[in-house]
Amino acid sequence: MAGGRGDGGGRGRRFGGDDGSDRRFGGRSGPLRGMPAGGRSGGGRGGGMKGGSRVVVQPHKHDGVFITKAKEDALCTRNMCPGESVYGEKRVSVQKEDRTKVEYRVWNPFRSKLAAAVLGGVDNIWIAPGTRVLYLGAASGTTVSHVSDIVGPEGLVYAVEFSHRSGRDLVNMAKKRTNVIPIIEDARHPARYRMLVGMVDVIFSDVAQPDQARILGLNASYFLKCGGHFVISIKANCIDCTQPAEAVFASEVEKLKAEQFKPSEQVTLEPFERDHACVVGGYRMPKKLGI
Ligand SMILES: C[S@@+](CC[C@H](N)C(=O)[O-])C[C@H]1O[C@@H](n2cnc3c(N)ncnc32)[C@H](O)[C@@H]1O
Repeated sequence: MAGGRGDGGGRGRRFGGDDGSDRRFGGRSGPLRGMPAGGRSGGGRGGGMKGGSRVVVQPHKHDGVFITKAKEDALCTRNMCPGESVYGEKRVSVQKEDRTKVEYRVWNPFRSKLAAAVLGGVDNIWIAPGTRVLYLGAASGTTVSHVSDIVGPEGLVYAVEFSHRSGRDLVNMAKKRTNVIPIIEDARHPARYRMLVGMVDVIFSDVAQPDQARILGLNASYFLKCGGHFVISIKANCIDCTQPAEAVFASEVEKLKAEQFKPSEQVTLEPFERDHACVVGGYRMPKKLGI
């Protein structure tokens, strides 16, 4: 990657104007081809890695996301809870010029579809410092913890998960992260948690359900501001295992449009997830702003 912010590249498509045309862009892979040490397992025992003078941390093009440049480059986020790993991921501590230390957590694209989308070169994740995010399908909080790092103390993450088993880990993680509000509920019934959730800037959805477009639409109608954005991970097999993945993605995009979403780009999550795509776009976009 050339110096400065990672410029993405991209393995996907941008949706065109209202005529529904789309334009393929770049065949280049994302900024990092590699993966953090530890691969799918999460990166070892979560020990701290001494940054010292050998590790350089650079900002990624997405605000709040970084790249550690050492023997192997790795995606990372600035740790909201220095000294703590969430799922066994490595931590990297770097001393700044004023001798204060900043700690980063390696973000494993095999464990997080959002990280896979970032490495896939997605143009905008709409999640940045200060953003309010509704996260559907939080599981035990692996990706939620990185979203919490990205939005930082000024942002907020409402994390919805209906499995009580995963929810236990999620709740424990949130005890140390004041910007995460865990909600153990079914995302198909947003009315049940409407008293807990304010209006948000972005909904990230990873519920892996056949009716996920409807679930996203329902939650958007309650909580997503007009002109807000969505990021959805689509696992083709969960929707229709008889169709080619590309056909499933195309039909999900049509369902999203019917729910007042305006998809703007789609990236594949290969090689980290097979037959998965991530679609990003706006919601009830004001005419003059466009996306
Ligand atoms: C693919 S996993 C999510 C992984 C997680 N996003 C991560 O990166 O760490 C899908 C999760 O969605 C949850 N889920 C599925 N349907 C749901 C629903 N209707 N309401 C809430 N959670 C749901 C599942 O229990 C599961 O934990």
